[in-house]
Amino acid sequence: MKKIRILGIESSCDETSVSVIEKDGGKKIRILSNLIKSQLDVHQHFGGVVPELAARAHSEVIDTLINMAVKKAKVKLTEINAVAATSGPGLLGGLLVGVVAAKTLSSVLNIPFIAVNHLEGHALSVRLEHELNFPYLLLLVSGGHTEFTIINGFNKYNRIGTTLDDAVGEAFDKTARVLNLNFPGGPEIEKYAKQGNESKFKLPQPLSHEKNCHLSFSGLKSAVVQIIKKKKKVNLQLQKDMAASFQKTIADILTKKTTYAIKTFQSNHRKELVPIVVAGGVAANKYLRNVFLKMEKEHNCKFYFPSPKLCTDNGAMIALAGLERYERKMFSKLNFKPKPRWPLDKKAKFLKGKGILSA
Ligand code: KG4
Ligand code: ZN
Repeated sequence: MKKIRILGIESSCDETSVSVIEKDGGKKIRILSNLIKSQLDVHQHFGGVVPELAARAHSEVIDTLINMAVKKAKVKLTEINAVAATSGPGLLGGLLVGVVAAKTLSSVLNIPFIAVNHLEGHALSVRLEHELNFPYLLLLVSGGHTEFTIINGFNKYNRIGTTLDDAVGEAFDKTARVLNLNFPGGPEIEKYAKQGNESKFKLPQPLSHEKNCHLSFSGLKSAVVQIIKKKKKVNLQLQKDMAASFQKTIADILTKKTTYAIKTFQSNHRKELVPIVVAGGVAANKYLRNVFLKMEKEHNCKFYFPSPKLCTDNGAMIALAGLERYERKMFSKLNFKPKPRWPLDKKAKFLKGKGILSA
């Protein structure tokens, strides 16, 4: 059978990434290249992603990265079957850069353009490394999104819980900023927490006693701010103890909510062993991974974590979602407009700001 090769482009936030993946006659999918150019140097100074600077930085490297990814994959551009690009959700300027590049390639090479939902990329990425059948439970924990979604099958997504305010990665980043730690905050908090006392500060766990899978982190972040304000200065010991207490609180909230998510999955599927995929940048956190793995002893579940490079934003996961669509001939038109807001589960209610009041 003919080989299928998909080029995937990711530019929705602060990483420009281009990948080429290949599927041979069987089921096997290989990542031929997956290049990621982080914009850390651009945003670090601001303690967060600056949308305009992000868009400019994507536009400066996209052409080079496409060329390099094709070269590293040892294929010719003419051997690519389709181009997939993250077309939402995300920052509009960045999305436009990737989408325009993909549409141009599609038009010049006369191959399909496939608009991919970034969240679908995260939802499916585990399948690049593990042979995991549907259905499974997804806990997506990134800088922009935090949700529990049952992945019933390709394009069959049922969101059963979401954050009502900040994403968990955002909470890590904001807390790190209050503690004068570098951006992105997640890896910094993890590092400082290793030497801190996780019982030093008792922090709130918003919504954690409600028997549902919704989450909230903004109150937790405010509590950290209040404690820090009362201290005269942020010394090293305070940084370590607060990082450890914060990380432990996040772990407690996520484990409680995952327990509900497991029950919801079991009531929907009557499946004994619940496969749980934890994806997104925060899933790179080793402390959290260990806490999740301990849950396997108490609950009938098995955790899967994509490797760190496939947890954070990357072109390979976009290429994979593109491949699934290519095989089903789900191509997009060249007038497709990027969507800054684009839920994975189309039926899911918007539960932020005013959305909470109307839910
Ligand atoms: O998935 P991702 O690369 O981008 C988005 O789609 O948002 O996730 C980035 C987020 C950032 O908030 C970052 O602080 C967090 O993932 N992160 C971590 C760790 N590594 C990255 N959070 C906690 N622990 C980590 N080791
Ligand atoms: Zn992401």
